[in-house]
Amino acid sequence: MAPVTSLTARVNQHLADALASARPEADGVDPLLRRSDRADFQANGILALAKKAKSNPRELATQVVGNIVTGDVIKDVEVSGPGFLNLTIADRAITENLAARHADGERLGVPLKQEPGITVVDYAQPNVAKEMHVGHLRSAVIGDALRGMLDFTGEKTIGRHHIGDWGTQFGMLIQHLFENPGELAPAEDVDGEQAMSNLNRVYKASRAVFDSDEEFKERARKRVVALQSGDKETLELWQQFVDESKVYFYSVFEKLDMEIRDEEIVGESAYNEGMPETARILEETGVAVRSEGALVVFFDEIRGKDDQPVPLIVQKADGGFGYAASDLTAIRNRVFDLHATTLLYVVDVRQSLHFKMVFETARRAGWLTEHVTAHNMGYGTVLGADGKPFKTREGETVRLEDLLDEAVQRAAEVVREKAQDLTEDEIQERAAQVGIGAVKYADLSTSPNRDYKFDLDQMVSLNGDTSVYLQYAYARIQSILRKAGETKPAAHPELELAPAERALGLHLDAFGDTVFEAAAEYAPHKLAAYLYQLASLYTSFYDKCPVLKAESPEQVANRLLLCDVTARTLHQGMALLGIRTPERL
Ligand code: ARG
Repeated sequence: MAPVTSLTARVNQHLADALASARPEADGVDPLLRRSDRADFQANGILALAKKAKSNPRELATQVVGNIVTGDVIKDVEVSGPGFLNLTIADRAITENLAARHADGERLGVPLKQEPGITVVDYAQPNVAKEMHVGHLRSAVIGDALRGMLDFTGEKTIGRHHIGDWGTQFGMLIQHLFENPGELAPAEDVDGEQAMSNLNRVYKASRAVFDSDEEFKERARKRVVALQSGDKETLELWQQFVDESKVYFYSVFEKLDMEIRDEEIVGESAYNEGMPETARILEETGVAVRSEGALVVFFDEIRGKDDQPVPLIVQKADGGFGYAASDLTAIRNRVFDLHATTLLYVVDVRQSLHFKMVFETARRAGWLTEHVTAHNMGYGTVLGADGKPFKTREGETVRLEDLLDEAVQRAAEVVREKAQDLTEDEIQERAAQVGIGAVKYADLSTSPNRDYKFDLDQMVSLNGDTSVYLQYAYARIQSILRKAGETKPAAHPELELAPAERALGLHLDAFGDTVFEAAAEYAPHKLAAYLYQLASLYTSFYDKCPVLKAESPEQVANRLLLCDVTARTLHQGMALLGIRTPERL
């Protein structure tokens, strides 16, 4: 593996050196380098420096220009406006940079983090015995993309699927199964769809009795106590619900083309044993106090409705533990056993108050420190075409599988229309990659904290900012590379580059920086925007610069190099987002 220093970093270094030799106080001043329309880059940092040094910015800029080393990366530099620098990069440097990235395989020259941390990513956390909804889809898609990007930077990630597999609602379910054994077919005999329909049936049946029969209600309540005290028979019945649900979860995740590992499914129940200890520590350290029998944490700064202070309930007056206790105990486990440096939660923004209180409690207890931080990547709501929370026409939450199936079906129409030499099997395979990719991309290309509209027509459209557009760009490049046959991509740094080649080459150079930024900010939409721009720049390049019919064999090879690095960057970038790039479409 040979990491490549980006052109931006090299230019930055040259500028920093020139600034430092012009002014000693410039040491550490950011040259503020940006891509620009006028030249390749513009540096705006001199304005701040001039202010600091109390000198005329234009004069200072002229002085700095005199100190800039040109010839290797920087071809040309000039002062513009009140003291900006416009910089042009040498064609040779662009081509050599691409060649170095091309030689570095999948990593494309992107270096690994110097001091990686351990990030525990809490995502894709559906609830046992319940249907998954679009909110769970977002958590899974965003969490998976964040992990992909973080891993690529060299960060170590550990997944935690904090599934809802514990709590009072299980009393009713278990009691029903106890009284009606055999209602749930063994998990190994069912597929995902059957599993969910069994669970739904049991849920409805038990709910009906629960709501109408006071004695059953009482038996269900006792069942909760038996569950929490670890009664063997009760736990076995509970396990049946968990196993049946997992069959269903896995079938949905498979449809989503997402790898979920069993050892990372660590639900609320896993923290059951540690909860009394959590409560004890919090009470002994005075972080939590007894109030009307319950153990609670108060916050001056956190207020809910009507400006009333909202306490966090660690333990209820009846001794029971809830959602907060399991999250607090999970934090202890993630910090002290998994040695996490960052805790990331990909959870609906509507739970942000809960996390604010949980994090603050953990800070007071000393579990979270300046070295171990926690973030809730709270995502917004999925809206229907009418701009209201996504529901079926009957007003019910949309079944996730129906949604995914429909996306794949729509994608099949698009693929079939364009397909020339594909068999029906190939069309179906591509349709799955296009349809699921479309759903993921639509989610990931908006900032996670914003709501977004679930609009299948737009998602599978060939025009605009969609995954299909990116997948077609990739497939088109592959077709050119196939047509090139024995002519292989090769760098010819002596060749002058056309403007469209330069623009594409410079954008390719920014891949690594973009992934690092998007990962650090938990902003997959920044990577998506980068990839979309990459495909657009490729399209203009393709329109303006003949590849296989270029002027000379050298130029053909050099342009094939651009094509190949573009394809690999698209492929890698999409893979980080969890989206496939078929070789043919
Ligand atoms: N199962 C929860 C839900 O469906 C989400 C769990 C989020 N993670 C956590 N550590 N609380 O709303």
